[in-house]
Amino acid sequence: MTSNNFRKLSFVLMLSSSLCNNVFAQGKKGDPIEQRVNDLMSKMTLQEKIGQLNQFTSDRTSTGPISANSNKLKDIEAGKVGSMLNVRGSKDTRMVQEAAMRSRLKIPLLFGLDVIHGYRVTFPIPLAEAASWDLDAIEFASRVAGREAAAAGIHWTFAPMVDISRDARWGRVMEGAGEDTYLGSMIAKARVRGFQGKGLGELDAVMACVKHFAAYGAAVAGRDYNTVDMSERHLWEVYLPPFKAALDAGAATFMNSFNDLNGIPATANTYLQRDILKGKWGFKGFVVSDWGSVREMVPHGFAKDNEEAAKYAIKGGSDMDMESYAYVNFLEKLVKNKEVSEDLINDAVRRILTKKFEMGLFDDPYRFSDEKREKKELNSAANKKVALEVAQKSIVLLKNQNQVLPLSKDVKSIALVGPLAKSAEDMKGFWSVVWDNDHLVSLHEGLETKQGKKTQINYAKGCNINDDDKSGFADAVEVARKSDVVVVAVGEAFDMSGEAKSRANIHLPGVQEELIKELKKSGKPVVVLIMAGRPLIFNWTADNADAIMYTWWLGSEAGHAMANVLFGDYNPSGKLPMTFPRSEGQLPIYYNYNNTGRPVINENNIHYRSAYIDSPNSPKYAFGYGLSYTNFAYSNLTLSSKSLNQDGSITVKFTLKNDGKYAGEEVVQLYLRDKVASLVRPVKELKDFTKILLKPGESKEVTFVINKEKLSFYNKNLDWVAEPGDFDLMIGTSSDNIKLKDTFQLLD
Ligand code: GLC
Repeated sequence: MTSNNFRKLSFVLMLSSSLCNNVFAQGKKGDPIEQRVNDLMSKMTLQEKIGQLNQFTSDRTSTGPISANSNKLKDIEAGKVGSMLNVRGSKDTRMVQEAAMRSRLKIPLLFGLDVIHGYRVTFPIPLAEAASWDLDAIEFASRVAGREAAAAGIHWTFAPMVDISRDARWGRVMEGAGEDTYLGSMIAKARVRGFQGKGLGELDAVMACVKHFAAYGAAVAGRDYNTVDMSERHLWEVYLPPFKAALDAGAATFMNSFNDLNGIPATANTYLQRDILKGKWGFKGFVVSDWGSVREMVPHGFAKDNEEAAKYAIKGGSDMDMESYAYVNFLEKLVKNKEVSEDLINDAVRRILTKKFEMGLFDDPYRFSDEKREKKELNSAANKKVALEVAQKSIVLLKNQNQVLPLSKDVKSIALVGPLAKSAEDMKGFWSVVWDNDHLVSLHEGLETKQGKKTQINYAKGCNINDDDKSGFADAVEVARKSDVVVVAVGEAFDMSGEAKSRANIHLPGVQEELIKELKKSGKPVVVLIMAGRPLIFNWTADNADAIMYTWWLGSEAGHAMANVLFGDYNPSGKLPMTFPRSEGQLPIYYNYNNTGRPVINENNIHYRSAYIDSPNSPKYAFGYGLSYTNFAYSNLTLSSKSLNQDGSITVKFTLKNDGKYAGEEVVQLYLRDKVASLVRPVKELKDFTKILLKPGESKEVTFVINKEKLSFYNKNLDWVAEPGDFDLMIGTSSDNIKLKDTFQLLD
């Protein structure tokens, strides 16, 4: 046989063997996934298995997804990488996936990205969306985000973040659903449903990733990455339910958290990841570590080096290592030294491969990387329309003295003042995916678009966001004097809340409040819009401005949403998902506190009460608070019975009427209180809510159903129980404004 023929034959043999490997290794399309996983795993070397547990980031700083001098492409070709994060776009994901297809077994990569509140169209930050209390809107926003991400080659979003937090010093409150476990659980479900759509394998579905498991939002003093120390019961009662809700909604993956919990870093926390998540809850997906959290067990003082960290993490239930290089560098040695059982590796690999099969990536590794689809789906008018609707619903009207809002469309002139008035960039908020700002609409643009030539907009910046320069005050006061109304846009820059953005002082930054004081002297009505990623403190403004709207960071359509609310084309309907403190000294502050033995009966009785001598106990604005341009009347409360037994229920009905002259949506809130129990119980807990649209003069009967589930809590043995006894029932327009009350009994 000539050498040439031999070469040809060997090429054919190599080709057929690799194809055979490929086809044989991955089983046939339509075979049961478990069988295909087993087939594939039977072909994999230990190193290839460990490769699946390794996730690298793209080098975002480089022009392409991976800088030319990095070894990452070679590692991918060598089967040492199971997933990449921060590679985005059909073109780049295809190019990097091609490297995986050059590996021996051609196992496709998973592409993950932080699509937290939108991919190309940016939605309001999650805390703002939570303020809408509109679960359909929140689900739809996540659906659009998931669709856009999937069209851009992304398989997996690192969202929803479901960390409950009661401390606005923590910058990541912007990323969650606020302080309440029930609201947070409902929103967690909505977001998972939105991202995963009709289910994994659909071309417009991305895997959700519930994070950060667990209790990351309870970091001491609101300092990011800080210690978390709490009773197991508190963990189960407040912080775990949103994770379970997300799991029940079908979440494909979880991400652990940077914090230690009661002395054990979450990344190695067997109790969290194996006993609870994979054991009690039966989670079949996989857990990815947070960025570098495996190797961070060394500075935590929990592992002596990255090798030991790898051992503790894999034993603790962390299946994939994000950017620690711990698994890829040490697991093979740990298995060979019998310090880590290969069974643990196999379990993690099985979980990850199963998701890759479910996503259809073995049948077509490039199915998400389609440039034509990407061009059609991203930033479409339909997607922007959804963003506008969600943004409008997220705005919270905090004050509207003498009905200064909505503004008349015949208003002759507006003084538009403040460091955020013309800002488009800050509208994207933290965790925005896109780097350019061309798609973001500022308040100024929104007002210009809406009022065009009808209204003269006199602009002055007035001051910067966060310094002590008052040189712009005079111009601002000047434009105020010559205008009919003053609209002031103040707050935080988009990167003043978010990861690693804890603040010890959460007042309006810089000299912004002093600017408002100067503008108030003009004698014109002053309408203040506060754009921020967290609750801020602005007591003078709260007491002296004529109107205040909390607009958070509203994303792509921010300016249009704010303009629509200012002029009444949308009647504000948002309610606060977090309590707003009067001072940092009140933090952590939340509505569902325990009564204590010396409760505050009223702010004036100063004797021996669980309160401060230098501040009211009450917050500046309560959880669930938000005004409307119309009024809602609550009446005719009825209970189907004054008692229920363990498997019974009580149907609660009442009438809600729109008593005002604007159509509007009201978020009616059901709070319950367990009066006496084996553990002290909160003075009230949100147990249901619904958002209702009513025309002027329209009434509607609202129904809630109370059952044992709504009365249950974790007792001292961590049993989920409903104890017989008396309960208060409260229906409110906010947690501190109860409109209807009654009591009922749970019988044995
Ligand atoms: C970050 C965040 C996490 C994010 C991950 C990937 O540090 O803590 O929420 O998903 O790294 O960017």
